[in-house]
This record gives sequence, structure tokens and C-alpha cells, in this order.
Amino acid sequence: MIWVSGWRLAASVSQAGALGLLGAGSMQPELLRAHIRKVKAATQCPFGVNLPLLYPQMQDVLDVVIEEQVPIVFSSAGSPAAVASALRDAGIIHVHVVAAVRQAEKCAALGLAAVVCEGVEAGGHNAPQGTTSLCLIPQIVDAVDLPVIAAGGIADGRAMAAALALGASAVQVGTRFAASVESSAHPAYKDAVVNAGDRDTVLALSSVTPVRLIKNAFAQRALAAEASGQSVEQLRALLGRGRGRAGIFCGDLENGEIEAGQICGLIDDLPSAESIVKNMVAGYRSARRALP
Ligand SMILES: Cc1cc2nc3c(=O)[nH]c(=O)nc-3n(C[C@H](O)[C@H](O)[C@H](O)COP(=O)(O)O)c2cc1C
Repeated sequence: MIWVSGWRLAASVSQAGALGLLGAGSMQPELLRAHIRKVKAATQCPFGVNLPLLYPQMQDVLDVVIEEQVPIVFSSAGSPAAVASALRDAGIIHVHVVAAVRQAEKCAALGLAAVVCEGVEAGGHNAPQGTTSLCLIPQIVDAVDLPVIAAGGIADGRAMAAALALGASAVQVGTRFAASVESSAHPAYKDAVVNAGDRDTVLALSSVTPVRLIKNAFAQRALAAEASGQSVEQLRALLGRGRGRAGIFCGDLENGEIEAGQICGLIDDLPSAESIVKNMVAGYRSARRALP
């Protein structure tokens, strides 16, 4: 996750037995290299890097990932074909984030290792006409012969059990880890996630870069601009640059983008990454036992 998943969070998640991902979308190539080396120094466990393909520096970031022999890459926000052959030639496991059956089928045709199936509940950038996880997971599971990693709305073991019952092989967790001790997000951002309720997020800027945000002054301005029929150029001008950094990393709760998922209403504490992983596994087991 941009501005959230630096080496501390990624290494702690991996060390706890899950798979930590570094968020390359908010890093210049040499900063990413430094974070990769710090993860390697902090844990022997596997880890990965997320490459959001919409950012201009991604070709240079890809070179760093290959030079540093990162074992796993999750690409997102673009066509996986742009990086698939380079990753395959480098022996790197390639997973791509999708929000529709057709996109998952393309990943299967490209020979990717797995897909992340992201529902519209998820925090951060999202599909403009998104489908909920409950509907999307089984459709993608039935459509492709690949492991499906469910994302969107999963913050505890009950949701993990539900995703696995729908046929997913694993889950990807965003907002829950964004509000953790090791997250590099600003304390004000973490408090905003903890304080948000079940109806406090919105999918904004659908015609520009659809993104799920906690409803703050900026999100309200974006919604009003969309509702009044402003053009894509006007909306781009309203968005400007650096809103994600302002909201997530610098804690500007008024004018920044507070990217978070609908599940933020369930989150009311700031635990360590290790205890999030442990609680999810324990909660998953007890959810299975509690099924009638
Ligand atoms: C603050 C924040 C930043 C995110 N940044 C990225 C990103 O850079 N790349 C990406 O593929 N997904 C990103 N995501 C989405 C997450 O990787 C994950 O798929 C999503 O949060 C899962 O849904 P959840 O928030 O309901 O757990 C981000 C999510 C959040 C909350």
C-alpha cells in the first residue's frame, strides 16, 4: 500500500507468517532498493513488492526489483502484460490484481501464478463499476484455474473463512494493516480509520482514478464536482498532485485523500502486524468451528 507499506510493515507481516508486500507506488527506485534491503535484513521469510503500473517510474522500479532478486511481485492498476515477460525471465513469481472475470482470464492466458480478486469494498484505487467481493470471488474462482487471493473487506478471521468458503486460496488485507503499529501512515490517518464507521467511505473520482476514501472535506468536494457534471480535465485539476501523500503520510485529514476500505467500521484499535496475523488465524479457526 502506498505510503503505508514500508520495510517495517512488510517485514513484520512476513515474519508473522503471512506475505508482506512493499508498496512501490510511493517510492522512487533507489528508495525502494533501500526498503528491499531492509526487509531482507529484518526477516528470512519470503516477501514481495507491489507495482502499481499506472505510475511513470515503474519501469525503473521494475529494474530494481529484478536486480535485487525480489521473489514475488504483485502488479496492479494496469495491464500485467507490460511486465509479465520481464518478471518471468527473471524467475519472479507474478501475481496481478483484478476486479473482473475478463481480467482474471487474461492473467491466466499470460501464465501468471495467481490473481488477487479485489472487490469494490477495498480501500485505495478501485474499479469504476466495482463488484462486491461476495459476488466477485466465486465468479473468478469458477472462471480461472489459478489460485485466487481475495481482497476487499477482509479484516478478521471470519471474513477470511468466508473468502475461503467461496473458493479463494488466500486473502489480501489492506485497511487492517494500514491501521497497525508498523504502518508508515501518519498517526492522524490511523486515527481516522479507527474512528470511521460503516458508512464513512465513498468511491470517488470514478471518471478519473476511482478511489475509496474516508469522507472528508476533499472527498465531499470531489463528489460535488462529479455530481455537478464537471469534465475529466476539471476533476483532474481538482485532484491535483500529492493528495494521497497529504492524507495518508502527512495526516492532512481535510485536503488529503484518506484511502481506506468499507471495513474501517470494524477497526477500532492499532495492534502490531504480528497480532493482526495471529488474531486472523485464530478467528478463522473459531469461525469454522462456529459454523452450524
Ligand atoms: C492506504 C491504502 C493504500 C493502498 N495502496 C495500494 C497500492 O499502492 N497498490 C495496490 O495494488 N493496492 C493498494 N491498496 C489496496 C490494497 O492493496 C488491498 O487490495 C485493499 O486494501 C484490500 O481491501 P481492504 O482495504 O478492505 O482490506 C491500498 C489500500 C489502502 C487502504
